[in-house]
Amino acid sequence: MLDAGGQYCHLIARRVRELGVYAEVQPSEVAASLLEDRRGIIISGGPASVYEPGSPTVDPEIFSLGVPVLGICYGLQLMAHLSGGKVTKGTKGEYGLAQLKVTEHDRLFEGFQAVSEVWMSHRDRVGEVPEDFLVTATTDTCPIAAMANDWRKLYGIQFHPEVVHTQGGKIILGNFLFGIAGCEQDWQPDRQIEEIEDEIRRTARGRNVFFFASGGVDSTVAFSLCLQALGKDRVHAAYVDTGLMREGETEFVREVFTKMAGDSFEVVDAKDAFLSKLAGVVEPEAKRKIIGEEFVAVQERILESGHFLNGSWILGQGTIYPDTIESGGSAKSEVIKTHHNRVEGIQRLIESGRLIEPLAQFYKDEVREVGRAIGLSDELLDRHPFPGPGLAIRCLCTAEAEQARQIESGYVLPVLSVGVQGDSRTYRSTLALENYSEAAFATATELINQLGDVNRVVALVQSAAPLAELRSHVSAIDEERLSRLRQCDSIVRRLSVSSGFEEKIWQFPVVLLPCGVEGKPDSIVLRPIDSVDGMTARAVPMPAALLRQMTDELSLVQGICGVFYDLTNKPPATIEWE
Ligand code: XMP
Repeated sequence: MLDAGGQYCHLIARRVRELGVYAEVQPSEVAASLLEDRRGIIISGGPASVYEPGSPTVDPEIFSLGVPVLGICYGLQLMAHLSGGKVTKGTKGEYGLAQLKVTEHDRLFEGFQAVSEVWMSHRDRVGEVPEDFLVTATTDTCPIAAMANDWRKLYGIQFHPEVVHTQGGKIILGNFLFGIAGCEQDWQPDRQIEEIEDEIRRTARGRNVFFFASGGVDSTVAFSLCLQALGKDRVHAAYVDTGLMREGETEFVREVFTKMAGDSFEVVDAKDAFLSKLAGVVEPEAKRKIIGEEFVAVQERILESGHFLNGSWILGQGTIYPDTIESGGSAKSEVIKTHHNRVEGIQRLIESGRLIEPLAQFYKDEVREVGRAIGLSDELLDRHPFPGPGLAIRCLCTAEAEQARQIESGYVLPVLSVGVQGDSRTYRSTLALENYSEAAFATATELINQLGDVNRVVALVQSAAPLAELRSHVSAIDEERLSRLRQCDSIVRRLSVSSGFEEKIWQFPVVLLPCGVEGKPDSIVLRPIDSVDGMTARAVPMPAALLRQMTDELSLVQGICGVFYDLTNKPPATIEWE
């Protein structure tokens, strides 16, 4: 997989692996001489234009190696551009579903329907194919939607076979891998376990391994593999209780790790340190910074106090494949990484080659497969992702007490939350609609576009007071509000799991909003979403009976005034409110 930028690259590599073929991601500019022994090369999509100076390119020699090449989207355009064809700016973009008509059933389109729906996302397009290439498919907007030189085994497609919306996407990838490139179906992550354990022993070279456990899937599987490879006496894990965890989380992690590792696991109570530093802090980025820095401080204290920094210890981390690769599309994960993986003490370990990352070549789904094969429970492996800063980014704070303001479409709530519009972060008010209905989901984005100064739309499901009477109150993160949020989150999780709704969604944040009335100062926002990787997300309605039961129970929690439902996709909102 040659990475031409953007998020698609990893998705394609994942799909290839799902088909049982090992794929590795390389920067697009990698020298052709290093690719001679590959069975096939795929060039990914990306956001740039091939004709602009400085845009990602490939070594043109890759097209003469005799190795089959498949260019996808930008990859197709690069193939055309570098082989003497023409790429032009389209008169209009083509985003979303399009009807693809296959005009030449070559080896890539074998078994593919003559007309089918495919997912497109481009504005540039190939205007002229290079000499000796044939146009093999078209759409109404894009006359050259695919091209091929069957003899040289060079293929290019404008649509995205890796996304689920493309009908027969897997047929295309399968034809390329097996029919054209002659790959074998021999990649199975759970068959790699022995190899991983050997590698752990080789890297450890007699030294012991220390982990910071979070209860997340990756670090738990990585820890468990080290435990199997080295034995209990040679691994140690510490879990930092920040006081920002959900109900029962610390107990859950304690139980899982103690069962695996016995005395080689410890819980470090750092609640007071975190909560005292967060007292009175309102601004989301300030909260994040404090939490990141405190994590660093606690981790360093643990490493120093246990003498884990001496030569007989190395650090284990649950880093997975997408984290190890620098690409233009992962700027955000880079920021998260500097918080947690670049502590000064840890940095020293990295620099002296004392870091072990047994899952660095695996994708998330593969990590789950490995986890299952070594006997970890589904309860642990199938958990929804939970952010490192914990409930702190779901406990909204505000510096002023204000009344909700009425406008034509509803009420503007006097609190700010984070959103993402046009690739940049926003911090704006929320529009509250007076009545919840499933039909309202469709109107959220339009309302935000119209109003301009809001980045979210919620609808009121139930409240102890009308919207007109709701006020914000000066609020930060404290024990009382955290406990309120924890209770509500626990109710939501219990009902979501028992009703089976939990399995249908990707994540279900529950947010405490500092809006209410005297005696009931806060409200709750329900935010169930569907997503593939958290980069984009769709707000999901829940069954009416479940919502009723959830709302009834939440309304009984001390201090809770109203229950809102977040109707906003990402973008324009983010998943978390911060
Ligand atoms: P947003 O709010 O940016 O969230 O739409 C996208 C996904 O990232 C998770 N998230 C985090 N995960 N550390 C993490 O490990 C963090 O600091 C962090 N912040 C957000 C969020 O829960 C969602 O799944």
